[in-house]
Amino acid sequence: MKITDPCGGLISFEGIDGAGKSTQIARACAWLRGHRREVVQTREPGGTPLGEKLRVLLLHDAMHLETEALLMFAARREHLAVCIEPALAAGKWVVTDRFSDATYAYQVGGRGLDADKCRHLEQWVHPHRQPDLTFLFDLDPAIAAARVAKAGAAPDRFEREQLEFFTQVRAAYLARAASAGDRFCVIDAAQSPEAIGAQVDAALSARFAP
Ligand code: TMP
Repeated sequence: MKITDPCGGLISFEGIDGAGKSTQIARACAWLRGHRREVVQTREPGGTPLGEKLRVLLLHDAMHLETEALLMFAARREHLAVCIEPALAAGKWVVTDRFSDATYAYQVGGRGLDADKCRHLEQWVHPHRQPDLTFLFDLDPAIAAARVAKAGAAPDRFEREQLEFFTQVRAAYLARAASAGDRFCVIDAAQSPEAIGAQVDAALSARFAP
């Protein structure tokens, strides 16, 4: 898809907690706006009033693994209906901090949810929608954990998980990137923010510049 296309596009950012997505999400939004695109910046779980309420539950309340997956997809259904699809239909670009790849990585890879159940939910919730581009910030879980600790905020239910959990999440992300072909742009998140930013800009230019 070229940036001159009238239909907008969906860009997602993925990676384990502490991989450093936030700065680069802001950068990608700035790049798109600099190319005269209207941009909606959003996140999962969340992105809608109901989704943000579900986010609080998901990040702080203990729950069964399948409840967690169902709530992630419930929030996503609302996100698509209220935010993502209307924005795309209006020709806007949507930049989301996480989408369904996160459920494959965290709930299937990290927690051991049956992958078929995840595929089933994905097929139900967004049978015809995938991101046009997904940035995967890949990082050693030990480095990511040190970054989360340094940030100093009280860790949520996911951030409190052990290194082994994040090792599995990382592996699931990489496997998904390997099987999804050129939708993914995998970035070595151990690099400096400037070096990463240059790669983000280059990927956006290569795919979407007029
Ligand atoms: P964030 O800290 O990047 O905003 O994401 C919130 C947490 O939710 C993060 O630890 C990853 C987790 N998560 C899942 O486990 N499954 C999902 O489908 C999504 C979207 C997020």
